[in-house]
Amino acid sequence: MPSPARHAVVACIAVVCLSLTGQASAQTASRPEILLKKMTLDEKIGQLVQRAGGRQRALNSRIDDAELERVRAGGVGSYLHVAGAEPLARLQKVAVQESRLGIPLLFAMDVVHGYRTIFPVPLALAATWAPEAEERAARVAADEATAAGLHWTFAPMIDIARDPRWGRIVEGAGEDPYLGARMAVAQVNGFQGGNALRPGSLMATAKHFGAYGAAIGGRDYNSADLSERTLQEVYLPPFYAAARAGAGSFMAAFNDIAGVPTTANRELLRGNLRERWGWQGLLVSDWGAIAELLNHGVAADRATAATLALDASVDMDMIGGVYADDLKAAVEKDPARLKLLDEAVLRILRVKEQLGLFDNPMQYNDTERETRELLSPEHREAARAVARQSIVLLRNEGHLLPLDPAKLRSVAVIGSLATDGMSSLGSWRGQGKPEDVVTVLKGITAAAPKLKITSAPGADPRNLDLSGIPAAVKLARAADVTILMIGEDYDLTGEARSRSSLELPASQRELARQILGTGKPVVVLLANGRPLAISELAETAPAILDTWMLGVEAGNAVADVLFGQYSPAGRLPAAFPRTSAAVPFNYSSNPTGRPADADLAKDTVRYHDLPITPLFPFGHGLSYTEFRYSDLAQSAQSVGPGERIDLSITVENAGSVSSDEVVQLYVRDPVASVARPVLELRGFKRVELAAGQRKRLTFSLTPEQFAFWSPKGQWLVESGRIDFWIGASSADLRAKGSFDISKTHTGTAPAAALPTRVTVSNN
Ligand code: BGC
Repeated sequence: MPSPARHAVVACIAVVCLSLTGQASAQTASRPEILLKKMTLDEKIGQLVQRAGGRQRALNSRIDDAELERVRAGGVGSYLHVAGAEPLARLQKVAVQESRLGIPLLFAMDVVHGYRTIFPVPLALAATWAPEAEERAARVAADEATAAGLHWTFAPMIDIARDPRWGRIVEGAGEDPYLGARMAVAQVNGFQGGNALRPGSLMATAKHFGAYGAAIGGRDYNSADLSERTLQEVYLPPFYAAARAGAGSFMAAFNDIAGVPTTANRELLRGNLRERWGWQGLLVSDWGAIAELLNHGVAADRATAATLALDASVDMDMIGGVYADDLKAAVEKDPARLKLLDEAVLRILRVKEQLGLFDNPMQYNDTERETRELLSPEHREAARAVARQSIVLLRNEGHLLPLDPAKLRSVAVIGSLATDGMSSLGSWRGQGKPEDVVTVLKGITAAAPKLKITSAPGADPRNLDLSGIPAAVKLARAADVTILMIGEDYDLTGEARSRSSLELPASQRELARQILGTGKPVVVLLANGRPLAISELAETAPAILDTWMLGVEAGNAVADVLFGQYSPAGRLPAAFPRTSAAVPFNYSSNPTGRPADADLAKDTVRYHDLPITPLFPFGHGLSYTEFRYSDLAQSAQSVGPGERIDLSITVENAGSVSSDEVVQLYVRDPVASVARPVLELRGFKRVELAAGQRKRLTFSLTPEQFAFWSPKGQWLVESGRIDFWIGASSADLRAKGSFDISKTHTGTAPAAALPTRVTVSNN
């Protein structure tokens, strides 16, 4: 509300207010408020309704005459799974010119890792450990999507995923809340083009709030049942960071937390998100999730489901039709609900206004821009650069990589995935097309024109047909080196794609066994949308590159790394377990009364038959060079409220090729009133170092970054020692120090959501 003093200098004429500086401002009644006053109950409910334009069939395919009538009657607030500058302009005109109040529609789609120019899948983007790369990818996606008539994307997905069986791990940034929060902010900024919605923004959606990734057993849609501390410290920080970054929209998760379905979780949505965090954007349900409250068993009928969701402050009903059909009666029965309805309508109208849709509803419908932007050479170049940054070198025995084409005569490229454009696109492909993809075979062929390149599919992950393996083995025997691409196809990860096994598909295992059995040099390219249990492969394959699902420029990016044009520097955003049975596994666990130790003593927190360590740890990734860490220093021995402490280290590229290193800062609070994790990521920086170059990095932190969720339900910073390590992964810690926090005090925000400032200087 404006303060009385402010009232004094603002003269209101009708609904427009002029301040004494002469600037128009809407102090008393904003445009959404004015509109709200004119709306009928049906029109209000209409704004809460989101309908699908396509999905199973072609985009926009459901927009028939009956649908247009619905728009004219003010019965729709938004469409999803629609696109195209021209068709959406036609649809928007119906809303703006032919409906009573002329309220524009919001057009939405899951533009997740690209619209037409598809970038690496989000898990791979997180493997860059470079928020600026994430931001660039989101920016390109937004440039294309907004040129194609879209206002709103259902991304970023920022669910923490600690169980790689969960198929949707591919859509997020992996297991860690600090990394996840940085990537969330980068994507929100990239999509929206800055810290707030503005005309021309692609509105971002932070989803799926709040513990969708904690689905028990990694089974998609399953219940979560976790402590309030774990929820606040692990699952919510990326959402807090996204809210602070100005995400215009949030999506409530499908699942329940301890019996409370999120769509009806008043405490979490209205309480935590809106009241505690102060976020006032558009909260949308997931696909049909309001109707699913009946399946959850918390609503006996659709009217109850509608009121539960509205009470929880879910503004828009994605395709369920529950608000459309059943909210009216519920509001008429209890007029107190009208206030909640009005609030929801206002939130929706406000984002429409912020996006500039009232003033210029056709701003997103520039067909020329659409033609120019989609798959432009600059966008492809960006996709290639980011794809190279995503690649993780897992293993490189005897420095097999990089390959020197001058020293080779022939290369065999084996594996059906090496020619499978669709699988390079991965889950949520927007308008990406397999024919846009530079496949791995094409990329290698283009990069090494003088080499004799042979290829064979060998075996396909989709089936058990092994009949192609002998031909592939023959080619491997005849070639100097084999590039073997194996792993998951696009359909093995993503929504409803949880797997009980993290092994490679059986045909891929057999193909690998036989190709490696030739005894010839083999470089494995792993295609995956989740961490995989590849212990056998890791013992037998000399070189393994994690090449995920890298998008339209996959082949060029892979060739850049294979032939040493680019030294790989991606790092794992989630650990690879030794076996499927070893998950969930997380580096940031509590110590327990019997901590795991280096001697792997039997009576400690471990399996009897398996080392407690992962196969490849969180933050792991090799390089074509080596880095030395030295000269650890700290600005103080103790830090108090309102102060900062600086932790510095020098990193040197001790090898002969230029490369990036990802410098990682981990912390531990060794003695606190509740057990704290043995390690927590609290800072990182990807830096480029030429051969022989040294750089000095300084991590600057505040005590609030060590707050934990206390038993009293608040953020608490306890005085005492903090240990810290700087290193190259969660299991490769190179330097250790400690300092004290001088005073116990309360914090205000999830610690993992707060960014550590990192500065880099030449040394
Ligand atoms: C998914 C969401 C997605 C929505 C719309 C749902 O099934 O869970 O992540 O945004 O569909 O496509």
